[in-house]
Amino acid sequence: MAHRWRDNGLRYGLVTRVFHWSMAAILLWQFSGIVINRLFGRSALSDFLNSTHGELGAAILLLAASRALWGFYNLANRPRHERGILGTAARLGHIGLYVLMLFIPAVAFLRAFGSEWGLALFGIQFVPQGNERVEWMVAPANLLHGIFAWTLLALVAGHIAMALIHRFVWKDEVVGRMAGKMPTPQAAE
Ligand code: HEM
Ligand code: HEM
Repeated sequence: MAHRWRDNGLRYGLVTRVFHWSMAAILLWQFSGIVINRLFGRSALSDFLNSTHGELGAAILLLAASRALWGFYNLANRPRHERGILGTAARLGHIGLYVLMLFIPAVAFLRAFGSEWGLALFGIQFVPQGNERVEWMVAPANLLHGIFAWTLLALVAGHIAMALIHRFVWKDEVVGRMAGKMPTPQAAE
């Protein structure tokens, strides 16, 4: 009996899809605030979108970690990447997305714990303001948080471009694995 919520060789199941599309929505929110701020300057809209930066970062970290565990659990029965250079590029791209989804918020939290700024999430003050600064905890995020976040955005843009190419140029079934119908292996026979 193939369950709708598990992955199978033909398509991703409901759990993977909920992880995938909720993460996409959260990242859209996260980057919109920063990009709108960069393009048009600070405004009520960018302040509103950016006011949840830390909370959304925490959600991304938790979702990415759970999603990676779920991915390992389902590894043997997920749609396979194709052989050859394109398949390898897709596999490396997906691994890169996971590494960045985990690394970017993780170094930001490390910085928050080691800095004098303090950290409040959901109205709870997790780290008090005015702590003594611990240089080794602050340095990685100062160096890499922003650069890696923009790298993630570029990788996501490439990922979306590839999805569009699969759908509209090669017209294959790849997008259907993450969206659309949910065939079971029996149904495909
Ligand atoms: C995956 C989750 C996250 C993404 C995609 C993300 C993305 C970004 C981006 C694009 C910037 C602007 C960089 C620039 O101005 O060039 C930024 C800045 C910043 N983020 Fe995040 N962020 C995430 C999680 C977090 C978390 C969890 C925290 C805090 C605990 C945080 C704190 C900050 C701070 C303090 C800045 C300004 C200083 C800096 O640029 O490093 N971020 N973030
Ligand atoms: C409009 C936006 C997006 C579209 C159309 C899209 C499309 C897809 C499709 C069709 C697949 C299946 C590929 C395959 O079977 O080889 C996939 C997988 C994947 N996507 Fe996306 N995606 C989008 C946004 C994102 C975002 C924002 C992220 C995260 C940063 C992401 C991360 C992944 C990962 C890691 C996989 C591999 C399967 C998994 O482990 O969940 N995608 N995406």
